[in-house]
Amino acid sequence: MTFRLYPLLVLLCHGSDGVCPPMCICVSDTAGCSSCGLTKLPQSLPTYSVILDLSHNYLSWLGVGSFKKMPKLEKLLLTHNELVSLEEGVFTNASSLRYLDLSSNKLRVVEQHYFQGLWKLEELLLFNNKITQLEAGMLNGLSSLKKAYFSLNQITYFPFFSITDHSHPFMSMLDLSSNRLSRLPWVDVKALPMLVQRGLYLHNNSLICDCSMYSVFWHWDLRGYETLRDFTEEHTCTIYGNTRSFVRFLRQPRFFRNCTVEKPMSLPVTVFLSKLTVTEGEMVRLDCETSLSSRDLSFAWLTPSKGYITQTSINDTLMSLFPNGTLDIQATKVNDSGLYVCTAQDMKHALNATREVNVTVVLPQTETFNTGYTTLIACMLSMLFIFVYLYLTPCRCSCCTQPGPRSVFSSSRRSHHRSQSSKRVAFMEPMLTEEKTEWPPKS
Ligand SMILES: *[C@@H]1O[C@H](CO)[C@@H](O)[C@H](O)[C@H]1NC(C)=O
Ligand SMILES: *[C@@H]1O[C@H](CO)[C@@H](O)[C@H](O)[C@H]1NC(C)=O
Ligand SMILES: *[C@@H]1O[C@H](CO)[C@@H](O)[C@H](O)[C@H]1NC(C)=O
Ligand SMILES: *[C@@H]1O[C@H](CO)[C@@H](O)[C@H](O)[C@H]1NC(C)=O
Ligand SMILES: *[C@@H]1O[C@H](CO)[C@@H](O)[C@H](O)[C@H]1NC(C)=O
Ligand SMILES: *[C@@H]1O[C@H](CO)[C@@H](O)[C@H](O)[C@H]1NC(C)=O
Ligand SMILES: *[C@@H]1O[C@H](CO)[C@@H](O)[C@H](O)[C@H]1NC(C)=O
Ligand SMILES: *[C@@H]1O[C@H](CO)[C@@H](O)[C@H](O)[C@H]1NC(C)=O
Repeated sequence: MTFRLYPLLVLLCHGSDGVCPPMCICVSDTAGCSSCGLTKLPQSLPTYSVILDLSHNYLSWLGVGSFKKMPKLEKLLLTHNELVSLEEGVFTNASSLRYLDLSSNKLRVVEQHYFQGLWKLEELLLFNNKITQLEAGMLNGLSSLKKAYFSLNQITYFPFFSITDHSHPFMSMLDLSSNRLSRLPWVDVKALPMLVQRGLYLHNNSLICDCSMYSVFWHWDLRGYETLRDFTEEHTCTIYGNTRSFVRFLRQPRFFRNCTVEKPMSLPVTVFLSKLTVTEGEMVRLDCETSLSSRDLSFAWLTPSKGYITQTSINDTLMSLFPNGTLDIQATKVNDSGLYVCTAQDMKHALNATREVNVTVVLPQTETFNTGYTTLIACMLSMLFIFVYLYLTPCRCSCCTQPGPRSVFSSSRRSHHRSQSSKRVAFMEPMLTEEKTEWPPKS
């Protein structure tokens, strides 16, 4: 197939300035040189190509201006090669590049000059290299960047401060998962544009458990970021840097129960984590006791079924919010389940504190229902029996008139009365029966 096509392609290519290298396949806007055993870049490349695929070769070096004769080049695939570093000026005059795949190479350092001038670059793939060091200015000038993949390297430091709303307005994904990040500059992370925070992957690193770390993830979790949802199990942190004792911190938040977490504005907020399970139809009373002691507090609840609730917004017979912050739900429904977050606000001191309660509403025990139902059926059956016995059975003896069965009927009726009023709602604080070693969090 390739051999039959080849003369035709060469003919097609001959008309233009660049020539399709003999081992490659050039069609319309694409030059495909994948898996050609290339150890160096072909002498000439077609000038008209928009896509150049050099993946799965043995390229270990690229010279200055390697792609300067390809003004239309938008997509460059260099994945699965042997590149250890890039010369200054490799991408000179390749400023149309929008997609650059350098994944699965052997790059060690990403230097400041690597991507200079690629102001149209939207996606940069650098995963699965041997990167240990990133220079602070490496993403400077990449103002169109949307996605950057740094996963599966040995990165211990990332220059978060270099990404701002102004410098990278379209950036919506930054993958730093599966690296060796342990202590992050959380102040810089929290200052990242919201779009970047939402798309920041940090799982499978060697993060050290502490309150400043947890506070950031806690907020992201609350906002339901998919970067966390999709990798709940992979979000681990190590206790005192001991890699063998780690915590799946999205699963086991109890390690951070007493953390004072900070809002993005770096004001202290205390989180108490609680859990509560109730049966449908029961009343629930959630208090909003926080670390704030002021008497002059205003309260707001974020509820799963009704969104934000404040004292002025609530006009509902089913839910009520008392001035002391306590929220009452008159008759819970299964879809009232979820995370309830109360924010207490101290206007005078500009402090916020939150209380979080995970409410699970379960359906009533089917057993209870069945017992009552069975009793009712049994009762009706016995009535039918009596009826049949009294009126339809041909009378053969004198025992017909004895009123024996009636006593059975009345006792079954009495057992049908079951007290439903004995149920009460208990506000359960989380169990303090920690099986494993307790980790005392630092504030
Ligand atoms: C490369 O870009 C420079 C300016 O950055 C320009 O002067 C030069 O003519 C360009 N070369 C080619 C081959 O396009
Ligand atoms: C976690 O990272 C290590 C390398 O740091 C990698 O080998 C492993 O496949 C990664 N695991 C997951 C689940 O991504
Ligand atoms: C919750 O369930 C009730 C019925 O049990 C339904 O009327 C209501 O629309 C549901 N609310 C939501 C938010 O799904
Ligand atoms: C609450 O809603 C009812 C109608 O649903 C309305 O008549 C009443 O005025 C409202 N009360 C307040 C305090 O907004
Ligand atoms: C808040 O006020 C309500 C109604 O007055 C009361 O039932 C509840 O116990 C109070 N909660 C706390 C935590 O004091
Ligand atoms: C405190 O909470 C209120 C209401 O949720 C919010 O509007 C305000 O920005 C918060 N303030 C701080 C300092 O976080
Ligand atoms: C709330 O509790 C339920 C049941 O224990 C659990 O499945 C759910 O993940 C919890 N939600 C949060 C946000 O903790
Ligand atoms: C957390 O605080 C509670 C009191 O609010 C205390 O009883 C408990 O021992 C503390 N837990 C840890 C791990 O410090």
